[in-house]
Amino acid sequence: MKKMIDIEFGSHRYDELVELRYKVLLEPLGLKFLDSHRSQEAGYLHIGCIENLDDKLVGGLMMVPLDDKTIRLMQVAVDGKYQGEGVGRKMIEYALHRAHEAGYSVVIMHAMLNVIGFYEKLGFKQQGDIFEEGGVTFAKMVKKI
Ligand SMILES: CC(C)(COP(=O)(O)OP(=O)(O)OC[C@H]1O[C@@H](n2cnc3c(N)ncnc32)[C@H](O)[C@@H]1OP(=O)(O)O)[C@@H](O)C(=O)NCCC(=O)NCCS
Repeated sequence: MKKMIDIEFGSHRYDELVELRYKVLLEPLGLKFLDSHRSQEAGYLHIGCIENLDDKLVGGLMMVPLDDKTIRLMQVAVDGKYQGEGVGRKMIEYALHRAHEAGYSVVIMHAMLNVIGFYEKLGFKQQGDIFEEGGVTFAKMVKKI
């Protein structure tokens, strides 16, 4: 059984989340997490998925407020061993619920081209042309909540 949780910035779970994001998202691209980035994340919403059996963090994401109505989904990562089991879907659904509860009405995100289909299944629509950032190609995806 899995459960979704809110993760407090600076907590032990947050450290686990940073490690998971590194393993799933940054390491494959040859990027490093800079400690100086941590302080910027204090005001963001951090969400995780826990496997109840061993209390392990198997997925996570963060949401960055942009203005009163818009929040940006970032750094969505599911541990490779658990991908394709519905963890990503449940995490995004929980994140959308939490964003709505917090008063936001629009969620945006920048998706790498190979995961556009995943976000479309969750009701996101592509907006505008694809673009490049740091050598990686993205599409802007938007969902009203
Ligand atoms: C992309 C990612 C978050 C998806 O999470 P997941 O737990 O593997 O996905 P789920 O099992 O919840 O999939 C939900 C649905 O999306 C589909 N899906 C999953 N990955 C997909 C992809 N890359 N493209 C198209 N559809 C996809 C699944 O088939 C499933 O469809 P269904 O409901 O019809 O059965 C996860 O695979 C991951 O962390 N990948 C590596 C990091 C990454 O690319 N992150 C995104 C950064 S923009």
